[in-house]
Amino acid sequence: MEFTIKAGSPEKLKNGCVVAGVFAGGELSAAAKALDKASDGTIAAILARGDLDDKAGATLTLHALPGLATPRVLLVSLGKAGELTDKTYRDAVSAAARQLAGSPADDAAFCLADVDLPGRDAAWRIAQAAQILKDSTYRCDELKSKKDESKKGVKKLVFVTRGKPAADLDAALLEGEAIAEGMALAKTLGNLPGNVCTPGYLATTARKLAKEHKIKVEILERADMEKLGMGSLLSVAQGSHEPPKFIILNYKGGKPKDKPVVLVGKGITFDTGGISLKPGEGMDEMKYDMCGAASVLGTFKAIARMELPINVVGLIPTTENMPGGSAIKPGDIVTSMSGQTIEILNTDAEGRLILCDALTYAERFDPVAVVDIATLTGACIIALGNLTSGLLANDDALAAELLASGQAAGDKAWQLPLWDEYQDMLKSNFADIPNIGSKGAGTITAACFLARFTKAYKWAHLDIAGTAWKSGADKGATGRPVPLLTRFLIGRAGL
Ligand code: BES
Ligand code: MN
Ligand code: ZN
Repeated sequence: MEFTIKAGSPEKLKNGCVVAGVFAGGELSAAAKALDKASDGTIAAILARGDLDDKAGATLTLHALPGLATPRVLLVSLGKAGELTDKTYRDAVSAAARQLAGSPADDAAFCLADVDLPGRDAAWRIAQAAQILKDSTYRCDELKSKKDESKKGVKKLVFVTRGKPAADLDAALLEGEAIAEGMALAKTLGNLPGNVCTPGYLATTARKLAKEHKIKVEILERADMEKLGMGSLLSVAQGSHEPPKFIILNYKGGKPKDKPVVLVGKGITFDTGGISLKPGEGMDEMKYDMCGAASVLGTFKAIARMELPINVVGLIPTTENMPGGSAIKPGDIVTSMSGQTIEILNTDAEGRLILCDALTYAERFDPVAVVDIATLTGACIIALGNLTSGLLANDDALAAELLASGQAAGDKAWQLPLWDEYQDMLKSNFADIPNIGSKGAGTITAACFLARFTKAYKWAHLDIAGTAWKSGADKGATGRPVPLLTRFLIGRAGL
C-alpha cells in the first residue's frame, strides 16, 4: 500500500472509498459531519436506524450517497466520544484496514487519523495508522506453489488532514511504513520453517540487508567463535549438522564518536530441546525460536529506511538446538567466553547459553546500552500471556524508557523484578553457575543467568516467548517487538 498526505474537504474527495469515524450514539466526527452535510443528512439518518454498532472497530460501508463524488463511504466506530484511547484508536484503524483489504476500491482517502486523542498528536496518529494499514497487507505465501492473485484491496491511500499537513507528518508516515517493513521482514523470517530458515539463511539475509542499506555486516564462523572462546554458544551448536553463525551488524547513522546501542537477538532456528527433548505436541512452533534474531534484523531494516541518526550494533548468535551423538548432555560443564563455567542441567535452556557469549562479546563496542530480545521462557507466557512481553533490566531508567517506547508503539512490555535475592536460585555444586534455576520464577532466573554476563554496561532483556508469534487459526509471527525497539531508537536518536 502506498501512502500520501494532503489537506482536503472530505465531501469533495473522489477516491474509491472515503474512511471516516463515528462515535457511539451516532455522534459524527468532523469528517463524517462534512460528508453528512453534503449528502443532506443521509448518514445521520442511516445511523439513527442503528446500522452501525457502537463498539470501537465496528464498520459500515455506504454506497453511492447523494451529493458525494466518492462511490463508497466506510464508517468506522470509534466508541464513546471522549473515551477514545490508544487501544480504541488502533482497533478502529485495524477494522478499517480489514475492510479496505477486501474492498474493490483501488484507492482510498483516510480521514480517521483526524480525531482528537488525548496525549497523542497528529504525527503519532498518522504513524500508527500507516503502520497498521501497511502491516495488514502482509502475506506469507513464499512457500505456496500458487500465490494469492486476488486483485482486491486498496493499493493507494491518502491521509486527509483538515489544514495544510505539518512538515513532521511526512516523517511520521515514513516511520509507520518503515516499522511495518521491518515487521514484515521479522514475520517472514519467523514464519519460514526450520529447514529453510537455518543459521546460514539468517546470515545470508543479514548480508542482503547490509547490501541494500547503509549497514556493515560481518559473519563469524565456528572457527572464529572457537578462537574467541565462545564455548557456551558452541556447546549448543555441537548437536546439529547445521553450522552455527555469529552475525554482527553495524549501522552508523550517528556521529562517529557516539557510543552505540547494542541489540542482541536469540537465533535458535529450531529448538528441539536437545537431549532434554521437548514433547512432540506443538513442537513445530519451535521454528519461531529465532524471533529475537528476526526482530533485530527487522529493526535494522526500519532504522536504515528512516536513516535514523544513531549508531546501533546488532549481534545474532544463531544455531539449531538438536539431539544427536555429539550433543551436549545434562550435567556437562562448559566454559563461556567470559571465563565463567556453566553446568548444563537442562539442554532445553539453550537460549541463555548462546546469549551469554554474545553479551560478553557486546562489551567490545563500549555500548551506551544493550538490549537482548529472546523467546526465552515458557514461564513468561504463564506470567503475561500473549499480549505483553517481559522486561527485566539492571538499570531502571533504561527499563522505563523501553516500557514507554512499548506503550507509544502499541507493543507493550511489563517489568519483572531482577532483585539480587533471586540470584540465590542459581547455584551449582560443580561449576560457577547452572543453566537453570531452582523451582519457580523461570523468567526471572533466566534473566538472572544473563545478568551474570552484563555487569559491564546498562542492560535490558525482553522475553518475547508469548508475543513473537500467534498459534491457532491465524498462526504466524507477529513482527514484535520491532515497533517497541524502533520507537526506543527513535527516542535515543533525539527525534
Ligand atoms: N524456546 C524455549 C522457550 C519457549 C517455550 C518459548 C515455549 C515459547 C514457547 C526455551 O529455549 C526453553 O525451552 N526454555 C525452557 C527453560 C527451562 C528448561 C528452564 C522452558 O521455558 O521450558
Ligand atoms: Mn529450549
Ligand atoms: Zn529456545
